[in-house]
Amino acid sequence: MKVMVVGGGGREHAIIRSIAKNPTVTEIFALPGNGGMKDDATCVPIAATDIDAIVTFAYENKIDYAVVAPDDPLVLGAVDALTAHGIPCFGPNKAAAIIEGSKVFSKNLMKKYGIPTATYEVFDDPAKALAYLETAEIPIVVKADGLALGKGVIIATTREEAMDAVRSIMEDKVFGKSGNQIVVEEFLTGPEVSVLAFTDGKTMVPMVSSMDHKRAHDNDEGLNTGGMGTIAPNPYYTADIAKVCMDTIFLPTMAAMNAEGRTFKGCLYFGLMLTPKGPKVIEYNCRFGDPETQVVLPLLESDLLTIMQAVTEERLADCEVKFSTGSACCVVMASEGYPQKYDKGFPITMSEEARPHVFVAGAALKDGAVVTNGGRVLGVTAMDDTLEGAIKKAYARVAEVHFDNAFYRHDIGKRAMAALVKE
Ligand code: AMP
Ligand code: GLY
Repeated sequence: MKVMVVGGGGREHAIIRSIAKNPTVTEIFALPGNGGMKDDATCVPIAATDIDAIVTFAYENKIDYAVVAPDDPLVLGAVDALTAHGIPCFGPNKAAAIIEGSKVFSKNLMKKYGIPTATYEVFDDPAKALAYLETAEIPIVVKADGLALGKGVIIATTREEAMDAVRSIMEDKVFGKSGNQIVVEEFLTGPEVSVLAFTDGKTMVPMVSSMDHKRAHDNDEGLNTGGMGTIAPNPYYTADIAKVCMDTIFLPTMAAMNAEGRTFKGCLYFGLMLTPKGPKVIEYNCRFGDPETQVVLPLLESDLLTIMQAVTEERLADCEVKFSTGSACCVVMASEGYPQKYDKGFPITMSEEARPHVFVAGAALKDGAVVTNGGRVLGVTAMDDTLEGAIKKAYARVAEVHFDNAFYRHDIGKRAMAALVKE
């Protein structure tokens, strides 16, 4: 089988490595992939958002199965276009991808179907939003409606900050059209959990839970990033909480999307907060999380491609989805200065022992050498019977990976370990 994966980050590298385990797979293409994946996939320089070129490539190269991993092509309708050309795909169609593409849509969906989430107001007029903020309770959260490269959420701890966020999103249009509408919502507290779930619209199979670390520096200091590391499973997500989430969030979301005529097929990402009043949805994503995937897929013992095909063919109920009982940790190594300005082009080297456990996110090939080419450069992962063991192993491997100007957090999994001790 010839498989094509759309996307080019660490998440896609992890997906590619898992798909490669299927014995029927003969060739994997990554569009565009990155220089650090060259041993695992044939990288094709087609942008993940160039839907026409993606479809043409798939058609001309007789691709048997396509996985669309990032949010933008999903929201743009890549799955609809590929399916229309007879190419079976993993990922939601455009109508369903709106669950991530529009926060106004997802908040209204949750309200309509009674799915627990923060209370909120929607505004399309900055003057009305500013007037509302005059008396709203602080802290408060301001969110751009559309995709904003993960930067469209502002947690305002003062009234002025909230108003500035409204002005920059709605008046200065820092996120373009994504800021035509905003959601202003209640500030929630509690541990965060990421749960990715396979669903074909009939069955919902949550994967092992995980915990992201979004701030750039140790002790959750510094700017928000795309994610500096992950661990799985998340110790806050107990079996009891998992049951509550299944009954009050996961299954109701599947039913709600079906009722709206927007059946979701693919990987649905639930960003949850375990508040004192129970688990609530912080956000939905219409795809695998990054860097959650880098800890979740290594723990998957069943065959990923087989599960993906079962989702496409709506027979997930008959498919085995089994996870290891062990733990995994991923430490992201980034370029100094990320998430702001950083230099690129530094050669990346690593030990042969570490290589199979490194998922490369931001790298390019220069004169045959793999060099840094992004903010988040790669994720170093490890698995073990215990979380403590996985963390230790991951950091031991970090010491075997080198590039100039590298930085990483030293405390990935520390909060999870503290939660385990408390239990
Ligand atoms: P998002 O871009 O939707 O993933 O949001 C980024 C982060 O903002 C989340 O991971 C949470 O840590 C935080 N966040 C979003 N919404 C809220 C909320 N209502 N209350 C508290 N924190 C929030
Ligand atoms: N790690 C968060 C996300 O993928 O959106």
